[in-house]
Amino acid sequence: MEKLAVVYRGKAKTLYTTADPHRLILEFRDDASAFNGRRVEALAGKGAINNQINHFIMQRLQAAGIATQLERLLSADQALVKKLTMLPVECVVRNRAAGALCRRLAIAEGQVLNPPLFELFLKSDALDDPLINEFYGYTFGWITPEQYRQIKQLTFQINALLVPLFEQADLLLVDYKLEFGLLGEQIVLGDEISPDNCRLWDKKSGNKLDKDRFRQELGHVVESYLEIAQRLGIEVHQNSEVTT
Ligand code: ATP
Ligand code: TYD
Repeated sequence: MEKLAVVYRGKAKTLYTTADPHRLILEFRDDASAFNGRRVEALAGKGAINNQINHFIMQRLQAAGIATQLERLLSADQALVKKLTMLPVECVVRNRAAGALCRRLAIAEGQVLNPPLFELFLKSDALDDPLINEFYGYTFGWITPEQYRQIKQLTFQINALLVPLFEQADLLLVDYKLEFGLLGEQIVLGDEISPDNCRLWDKKSGNKLDKDRFRQELGHVVESYLEIAQRLGIEVHQNSEVTT
Protein backbone atom coordinates (compact mmCIF):
# COMPACT_ATOMS: atom_id res chain seq x y z
CA MET A 1 0.00 0.00 0.00
CA GLU A 2 1.53 3.35 -1.12
CA LYS A 3 1.44 6.70 0.65
CA LEU A 4 -0.41 9.26 -1.47
CA ALA A 5 -1.08 12.71 0.05
CA VAL A 6 -0.42 14.03 3.55
CA VAL A 7 -3.74 14.33 5.38
CA TYR A 8 -2.29 15.67 8.62
CA ARG A 9 1.16 16.22 10.07
CA GLY A 10 0.96 16.16 13.86
CA LYS A 11 3.71 16.59 16.41
CA ALA A 12 4.87 12.96 16.31
CA LYS A 13 3.03 11.24 13.47
CA THR A 14 2.00 11.91 9.88
CA LEU A 15 -1.19 10.56 8.30
CA TYR A 16 -1.31 9.78 4.56
CA THR A 17 -4.15 8.87 2.25
CA THR A 18 -3.91 5.60 0.31
CA ALA A 19 -5.63 4.22 -2.78
CA ASP A 20 -8.27 2.87 -0.38
CA PRO A 21 -10.49 5.74 0.82
CA HIS A 22 -11.17 3.88 4.08
CA ARG A 23 -7.52 3.28 5.03
CA LEU A 24 -4.70 5.64 6.04
CA ILE A 25 -0.99 5.17 6.54
CA LEU A 26 0.13 6.23 10.02
CA GLU A 27 3.81 7.11 10.03
CA PHE A 28 5.60 7.35 13.39
CA ARG A 29 8.30 10.00 13.13
CA ASP A 30 11.39 10.37 15.33
CA ASP A 31 10.20 13.81 16.50
CA ALA A 32 9.60 14.18 20.22
CA SER A 33 7.67 17.14 21.58
CA ALA A 34 6.83 18.28 25.09
CA PHE A 35 5.00 21.18 26.70
CA ASN A 36 2.48 21.39 23.84
CA GLY A 37 5.17 21.55 21.16
CA ARG A 38 7.27 24.19 22.89
CA ARG A 39 10.20 21.75 23.00
CA VAL A 40 10.85 19.59 19.94
CA GLU A 41 13.77 17.27 19.23
CA ALA A 42 14.51 14.36 16.90
CA LEU A 43 15.29 11.09 18.67
CA ALA A 44 16.73 8.64 16.15
CA GLY A 45 14.90 5.32 16.17
CA LYS A 46 11.93 6.41 18.29
CA GLY A 47 9.40 6.26 15.43
CA ALA A 48 10.12 2.64 14.59
CA ILE A 49 10.07 1.54 18.25
CA ASN A 50 6.74 3.27 18.93
CA ASN A 51 5.18 1.90 15.74
CA GLN A 52 6.11 -1.64 16.71
CA ILE A 53 5.08 -1.25 20.37
CA ASN A 54 1.76 0.25 19.24
CA HIS A 55 1.23 -2.60 16.78
CA PHE A 56 1.94 -5.21 19.45
CA ILE A 57 -0.44 -3.63 21.96
CA MET A 58 -3.25 -2.97 19.47
CA GLN A 59 -2.98 -6.58 18.26
CA ARG A 60 -3.39 -7.80 21.85
CA LEU A 61 -6.41 -5.54 22.42
CA GLN A 62 -7.95 -6.59 19.10
CA ALA A 63 -7.48 -10.27 20.05
CA ALA A 64 -9.30 -9.55 23.33
CA GLY A 65 -12.31 -8.15 21.45
CA ILE A 66 -11.58 -4.39 21.50
CA ALA A 67 -12.26 -2.74 18.12
CA THR A 68 -9.05 -0.96 17.05
CA GLN A 69 -7.89 0.96 13.98
CA LEU A 70 -5.24 -1.67 13.28
CA GLU A 71 -4.95 -3.22 9.82
CA ARG A 72 -1.28 -4.24 9.55
CA LEU A 73 2.32 -3.20 9.95
CA LEU A 74 3.71 -1.83 6.67
CA SER A 75 7.32 -1.09 7.57
CA ALA A 76 9.46 -0.36 10.62
CA ASP A 77 7.81 3.03 11.18
CA GLN A 78 4.49 2.80 9.31
CA ALA A 79 1.18 1.05 9.87
CA LEU A 80 -1.97 0.76 7.80
CA VAL A 81 -4.99 1.84 9.84
CA LYS A 82 -8.71 2.32 9.41
CA LYS A 83 -9.60 5.93 8.67
CA LEU A 84 -11.61 7.16 11.66
CA THR A 85 -13.47 10.36 12.39
CA MET A 86 -11.68 11.16 15.63
CA LEU A 87 -13.68 12.35 18.64
CA PRO A 88 -12.16 15.69 19.73
CA VAL A 89 -11.42 14.43 23.25
CA GLU A 90 -8.50 12.63 24.89
CA CYS A 91 -9.19 10.02 27.57
CA VAL A 92 -6.62 9.77 30.35
CA VAL A 93 -6.52 6.83 32.78
CA ARG A 94 -4.50 7.08 35.98
CA ASN A 95 -3.60 4.01 38.02
CA ARG A 96 -1.07 5.99 40.08
CA ALA A 97 -0.56 9.70 40.63
CA ALA A 98 1.95 11.48 38.39
CA GLY A 99 2.37 14.53 36.19
CA ALA A 100 -0.43 17.07 35.97
CA LEU A 101 -2.51 15.35 38.69
CA CYS A 102 0.28 15.87 41.25
CA ARG A 103 0.71 19.49 40.15
CA ARG A 104 -3.04 20.24 40.17
CA LEU A 105 -3.99 18.66 43.53
CA ALA A 106 -0.64 18.34 45.33
CA ILE A 107 -0.98 14.54 45.40
CA ALA A 108 2.22 12.59 46.13
CA GLU A 109 3.77 11.05 43.01
CA GLY A 110 3.23 7.30 42.92
CA GLN A 111 0.10 7.22 45.14
CA VAL A 112 -2.06 4.26 44.12
CA LEU A 113 -5.41 5.42 42.70
CA ASN A 114 -8.12 2.95 43.50
CA PRO A 115 -10.41 3.04 41.61
CA PRO A 116 -8.33 4.41 38.74
CA LEU A 117 -9.16 7.95 37.62
CA PHE A 118 -10.73 8.64 34.24
CA GLU A 119 -10.29 12.15 32.82
CA LEU A 120 -11.35 13.89 29.63
CA PHE A 121 -9.36 16.60 27.87
CA LEU A 122 -10.40 18.65 24.87
CA LYS A 123 -8.04 18.10 21.93
CA SER A 124 -6.98 21.68 21.29
CA ASP A 125 -3.35 22.74 20.96
CA ALA A 126 -4.51 26.38 20.90
CA LEU A 127 -6.04 25.95 24.38
CA ASP A 128 -3.32 23.58 25.71
CA ASP A 129 -5.70 20.57 25.85
CA PRO A 130 -7.86 21.75 28.80
CA LEU A 131 -9.40 19.31 31.31
CA ILE A 132 -13.16 19.01 30.76
CA ASN A 133 -15.89 16.61 31.81
CA GLU A 134 -18.62 14.83 29.89
CA PHE A 135 -21.14 17.68 30.34
CA TYR A 136 -18.89 20.06 28.39
CA GLY A 137 -18.93 17.40 25.68
CA TYR A 138 -22.74 17.26 25.60
CA THR A 139 -23.24 21.05 25.81
CA PHE A 140 -20.72 21.92 23.12
CA GLY A 141 -21.47 18.92 20.89
CA TRP A 142 -18.03 17.24 21.21
CA ILE A 143 -19.44 13.92 22.40
CA THR A 144 -22.88 12.40 22.99
CA PRO A 145 -23.96 10.71 26.24
CA GLU A 146 -24.01 7.34 24.46
CA GLN A 147 -20.51 7.87 23.05
CA TYR A 148 -19.29 8.87 26.53
CA ARG A 149 -20.85 5.74 28.05
CA GLN A 150 -19.08 3.60 25.45
CA ILE A 151 -15.63 5.24 25.64
CA LYS A 152 -15.68 5.02 29.43
CA GLN A 153 -16.60 1.33 29.29
CA LEU A 154 -13.98 0.61 26.58
CA THR A 155 -11.31 2.53 28.50
CA PHE A 156 -11.81 0.45 31.65
CA GLN A 157 -11.83 -2.77 29.59
CA ILE A 158 -8.55 -1.65 27.99
CA ASN A 159 -7.08 -0.78 31.39
CA ALA A 160 -7.92 -4.25 32.70
CA LEU A 161 -5.99 -5.73 29.74
CA LEU A 162 -3.02 -3.34 29.73
CA VAL A 163 -2.15 -3.36 33.45
CA PRO A 164 -1.37 -7.12 33.51
CA LEU A 165 0.29 -6.97 30.07
CA PHE A 166 2.86 -4.47 31.40
CA GLU A 167 2.97 -6.13 34.82
CA GLN A 168 4.29 -9.31 33.14
CA ALA A 169 7.12 -7.16 31.79
CA ASP A 170 7.85 -5.85 35.31
CA LEU A 171 6.43 -2.46 34.37
CA LEU A 172 3.91 -0.32 36.25
CA LEU A 173 1.38 1.32 33.96
CA VAL A 174 1.06 4.62 35.82
CA ASP A 175 -1.13 6.59 33.39
CA TYR A 176 -1.82 6.97 29.67
CA LYS A 177 -3.93 8.67 27.04
CA LEU A 178 -6.35 7.05 24.62
CA GLU A 179 -8.12 8.52 21.59
CA PHE A 180 -11.21 7.04 20.01
CA GLY A 181 -12.82 7.64 16.62
CA LEU A 182 -15.97 6.72 14.77
CA LEU A 183 -16.26 4.17 11.99
CA GLY A 184 -19.86 4.81 11.02
CA GLU A 185 -21.62 4.51 14.39
CA GLN A 186 -18.99 2.24 15.94
CA ILE A 187 -16.45 3.58 18.46
CA VAL A 188 -12.96 2.36 17.55
CA LEU A 189 -9.64 2.83 19.37
CA GLY A 190 -7.31 5.03 17.28
CA ASP A 191 -4.05 6.94 17.55
CA GLU A 192 -1.29 5.14 19.49
CA ILE A 193 -0.35 3.40 22.72
CA SER A 194 3.39 3.78 23.24
CA PRO A 195 5.87 5.23 25.75
CA ASP A 196 5.10 8.63 24.17
CA ASN A 197 1.64 8.67 25.74
CA CYS A 198 1.98 6.29 28.70
CA ARG A 199 3.91 6.57 31.93
CA LEU A 200 5.73 3.29 32.59
CA TRP A 201 7.93 2.71 35.64
CA ASP A 202 10.19 -0.20 36.40
CA LYS A 203 8.32 -2.24 39.01
CA LYS A 204 11.27 -2.76 41.33
CA SER A 205 13.34 0.43 41.06
CA GLY A 206 10.56 2.87 40.11
CA ASN A 207 12.77 4.15 37.28
CA LYS A 208 10.89 6.08 34.60
CA LEU A 209 11.16 4.46 31.19
CA ASP A 210 8.70 6.64 29.26
CA LYS A 211 8.44 10.13 27.77
CA ASP A 212 9.12 11.71 31.18
CA ARG A 213 12.77 10.91 30.40
CA PHE A 214 12.44 13.46 27.59
CA ARG A 215 10.19 15.92 29.48
CA GLN A 216 12.48 15.91 32.53
CA GLU A 217 15.72 15.67 30.51
CA LEU A 218 16.76 12.42 32.19
CA GLY A 219 18.58 11.11 29.07
CA HIS A 220 18.55 7.60 27.52
CA VAL A 221 15.08 8.14 26.07
CA VAL A 222 15.34 5.83 23.06
CA GLU A 223 17.24 3.20 25.06
CA SER A 224 14.41 3.16 27.61
CA TYR A 225 11.73 2.82 24.90
CA LEU A 226 13.72 -0.07 23.46
CA GLU A 227 13.90 -1.69 26.88
CA ILE A 228 10.10 -1.50 27.14
CA ALA A 229 9.79 -3.17 23.72
CA GLN A 230 12.26 -5.89 24.63
CA ARG A 231 10.55 -6.58 27.96
CA LEU A 232 7.27 -7.01 26.07
CA GLY A 233 9.04 -9.55 23.83
CA ILE A 234 9.03 -7.37 20.71
CA GLU A 235 11.97 -7.76 18.33
CA VAL A 236 12.26 -4.20 17.02
CA HIS A 237 13.28 -3.65 13.39
CA GLN A 238 14.85 -0.38 12.26
CA ASN A 239 14.83 0.77 8.61
CA SER A 240 13.67 -2.58 7.35
CA GLU A 241 10.57 -3.76 5.57
CA VAL A 242 8.40 -5.56 8.09
CA THR A 243 5.97 -8.09 6.75
CA THR A 244 3.27 -9.71 8.82
P1 ATP B 1 -1.37 15.18 20.22
O1 ATP B 1 0.06 14.80 20.47
O2 ATP B 1 -1.93 16.15 21.22
O3 ATP B 1 -2.29 13.98 20.01
P2 ATP B 1 -0.95 15.74 17.43
O4 ATP B 1 -2.13 15.92 16.54
O5 ATP B 1 0.22 16.61 17.18
O6 ATP B 1 -1.43 15.99 18.89
P3 ATP B 1 0.10 13.22 16.39
O7 ATP B 1 0.13 11.93 17.09
O8 ATP B 1 1.36 13.73 15.81
O9 ATP B 1 -0.56 14.21 17.45
O10 ATP B 1 -0.95 13.19 15.21
C1 ATP B 1 -1.76 12.12 14.92
C2 ATP B 1 -3.13 12.62 14.58
O11 ATP B 1 -3.83 11.61 13.88
C3 ATP B 1 -3.96 12.95 15.81
O12 ATP B 1 -4.65 14.16 15.60
C4 ATP B 1 -4.96 11.79 15.90
O13 ATP B 1 -6.19 12.17 16.47
C5 ATP B 1 -5.11 11.40 14.45
N1 ATP B 1 -5.44 9.98 14.24
C6 ATP B 1 -4.89 8.92 14.90
N2 ATP B 1 -5.38 7.76 14.45
C7 ATP B 1 -6.25 8.07 13.46
C8 ATP B 1 -7.08 7.28 12.59
N3 ATP B 1 -7.08 5.94 12.67
N4 ATP B 1 -7.88 7.93 11.70
C9 ATP B 1 -7.86 9.29 11.63
N5 ATP B 1 -7.09 10.09 12.40
C10 ATP B 1 -6.29 9.49 13.32
P1 TYD C 1 -0.88 14.41 32.38
O1 TYD C 1 -0.31 14.04 33.71
O2 TYD C 1 -2.29 14.89 32.37
O3 TYD C 1 -0.06 15.54 31.69
P2 TYD C 1 1.51 15.86 31.73
O4 TYD C 1 2.13 14.82 30.85
O5 TYD C 1 1.56 17.24 31.15
O6 TYD C 1 1.99 15.79 33.13
O7 TYD C 1 -0.75 13.15 31.41
C1 TYD C 1 -1.28 11.90 31.80
C2 TYD C 1 -0.87 10.84 30.80
O8 TYD C 1 -1.53 11.04 29.57
C3 TYD C 1 0.63 10.84 30.50
O9 TYD C 1 1.04 9.48 30.34
C4 TYD C 1 0.74 11.56 29.18
C5 TYD C 1 -0.60 11.29 28.52
N1 TYD C 1 -1.11 12.44 27.73
C6 TYD C 1 -0.74 12.55 26.40
O10 TYD C 1 -0.01 11.69 25.87
N2 TYD C 1 -1.22 13.62 25.69
C7 TYD C 1 -2.02 14.56 26.23
O11 TYD C 1 -2.42 15.53 25.52
C8 TYD C 1 -2.41 14.43 27.61
C9 TYD C 1 -3.31 15.44 28.27
C10 TYD C 1 -1.92 13.35 28.32
